[in-house]
Amino acid sequence: MKIAIGADHAGFRLKDEIVPLLKELGHEVEDFGCDCSQSVDYPDYAIPVCERVVKGEADRGILICGTGIGMSIAANKVPGIRCALVHDLFSAKATREHNDSNVLAMGERVIGPGLAQEIVRVWLETPFSQGERHVNRVNKVMAIERRQA
Ligand code: RB5
Repeated sequence: MKIAIGADHAGFRLKDEIVPLLKELGHEVEDFGCDCSQSVDYPDYAIPVCERVVKGEADRGILICGTGIGMSIAANKVPGIRCALVHDLFSAKATREHNDSNVLAMGERVIGPGLAQEIVRVWLETPFSQGERHVNRVNKVMAIERRQA
């Protein structure tokens, strides 16, 4: 898969632990930064990653900030994005099966690199269930965007 990844100053260290894993798993990675601890604004990194995904130029996006919250809020403002803030393996699997999430957000200040890497692995490997009730619910969520366009 093609994976777009971005982080702010509070997430770039974890991003740098995730990028090698993605490559090891055989994915193509586009890294949108940032790459140092100088303070930056998370929407400036969330939006380019999400735009890649909605344009079909990336299959999935991964966003990391201190908590993952700012990144997930920003990402979910982009029409077509279903961003899941995940810090456990159960949710990593469930959000793919139930929500067909296309962007994963995590917080470097919340979890360690080992768990984050396992979350990424599970999130990438788990397919959407295609269950009728889940398709229906995802469609209802996407309809909210059309109502507000
Ligand atoms: C940066 O200090 C921090 O606010 C940011 O990384 C993120 O956690 C916001 O939600």
